[in-house]
Amino acid sequence: MESLPDVSIIGLGKLGAPMLACFAAKGFKVTGVDVMPERVETINRGVAPVYETGLQELLTAAQGRYRATTDIIAAVAQSSVTFVIVPTPSLPDGTFSLEYSLPAFETIGQALREKDDFHLVVMTSTVMPGATDSAIKTTLETASGKRVGVDFGLCYSPEFIALGSVIDDFLNPDFILIGESDARSGDMLAQIYATVCDNNPPAQRMSFVNAELTKIAVNTFITTKITFANMLARMCENLPESNVDVVTAALGMDTRIGSKYLTGAIGYGGPCFPRDNVAFAALAREIGSPATLAEATDQFNRLEISRLTDLIKAKRPDNGVIGILGLSYKPNTDVIEEAQGLLLAKSLAGEAIPVIVYDPAALDNARRALGTSVQYADTLETVLQAADVVVVVTAWEQFKRIDLEMLAHNAPSVSVLIDCWRMLDGEALGAVLEYVPLGVGAGKPQFQSLTEGSRL
Ligand SMILES: NC(=O)c1ccc[n+]([C@@H]2O[C@H](COP(=O)([O-])OP(=O)(O)OC[C@H]3O[C@@H](n4cnc5c(N)ncnc54)[C@H](O)[C@@H]3O)[C@@H](O)[C@H]2O)c1
Repeated sequence: MESLPDVSIIGLGKLGAPMLACFAAKGFKVTGVDVMPERVETINRGVAPVYETGLQELLTAAQGRYRATTDIIAAVAQSSVTFVIVPTPSLPDGTFSLEYSLPAFETIGQALREKDDFHLVVMTSTVMPGATDSAIKTTLETASGKRVGVDFGLCYSPEFIALGSVIDDFLNPDFILIGESDARSGDMLAQIYATVCDNNPPAQRMSFVNAELTKIAVNTFITTKITFANMLARMCENLPESNVDVVTAALGMDTRIGSKYLTGAIGYGGPCFPRDNVAFAALAREIGSPATLAEATDQFNRLEISRLTDLIKAKRPDNGVIGILGLSYKPNTDVIEEAQGLLLAKSLAGEAIPVIVYDPAALDNARRALGTSVQYADTLETVLQAADVVVVVTAWEQFKRIDLEMLAHNAPSVSVLIDCWRMLDGEALGAVLEYVPLGVGAGKPQFQSLTEGSRL
């Protein structure tokens, strides 16, 4: 077997750190780089720098095959392939900034100036269509004095991972997306993925701009699909005896539609979906193409919180306290960016409604975002003890434990339970309080608990 190329990874955050662990676990020698010395030091101690399922175990298992540094030049010198996974934050107009990326590419270019052997540079962060072939390529060529596609290779290859399952998603992707400067570079990257992935995924190879457009188009299609399911859910709430799960279960059986991400519930959030959708619309406007579909998705999604706030206010007894269960944007992560639970807490607190919140992983992050505007609970039970109306916002597995016995022991005043994901046994709970599942019409109850309770 040919020997594995040594890999360097620039940016050891929510995506970069799991990628370092995956490569190292598969036998690659990996050098990670970050501008944050404490992040570098954490990795060098073999400790996971971010909250991610399975990351600590993988880092422990792969010890000895990775190290981290703040020195990009040394990392590039010691490797044959460099992945760049730094933030590309959204600008006010919705497009992505290269403010963190270009300094990294500049230093990579300086390192390439000193290298004789062929080196492959891979941009993994999400960028706007056009960025790789213009600013990124120019920065690398100017700093290195060499030509992309001739003296060294450049690929744009974003990941389609969800936080909470980054490792599993990275090792088992539906497909690999590669925008390539030349066939040699594309071959090299495809070979690396063939080694590191467990499921022998098909590769889609293309030009930079097509790959850049594909990345944001995938996420915009998914946000559209989620929003369609949410629109159905809102309709069912106004249509007696209807149930969104019954409808989407049938819809999902049509292979042209498919069942993934077709659960009508609450808005989407997180660090990717909202901003990729907005960037897609921004690009369409910029190039004079219709952006209406992506814009409508974003508008519908933003209004979900005010709809939920109105429902809660209508159900709230005088002076009632609202308990919010779930602040992370999805289960199994501590990330609260654009999370519906967090936005709901802000919305209610903004109307001077007393709120108590709990999340199994995201409380520390939520404290930083919400300050003293809400009360914090260390357990699920504490929320039940304090609240009059409880809203299950994130489909964390542990919230499925809420049952009659738990309510009897812990919930003296809960009169309404709003279940955004229909995770709980509504028929049983309905005997002791008003159980309000989203996406279900009035009349003959049609409770149908989801086994997944998640969009995945
Ligand atoms: N998190 C996700 O779910 C996800 C999914 C798909 C794509 N992405 C994309 O991946 C990129 C990174 O996302 P993330 O969530 O891992 O970000 P993150 O903020 O968690 O991590 C980025 C890391 O890069 C470091 N960094 C910044 N500038 C640097 C530089 N010049 N040199 C070295 N290190 C530097 C930061 O200190 C940080 O540790 C973004 O473009 C994002 O859109 C993220």
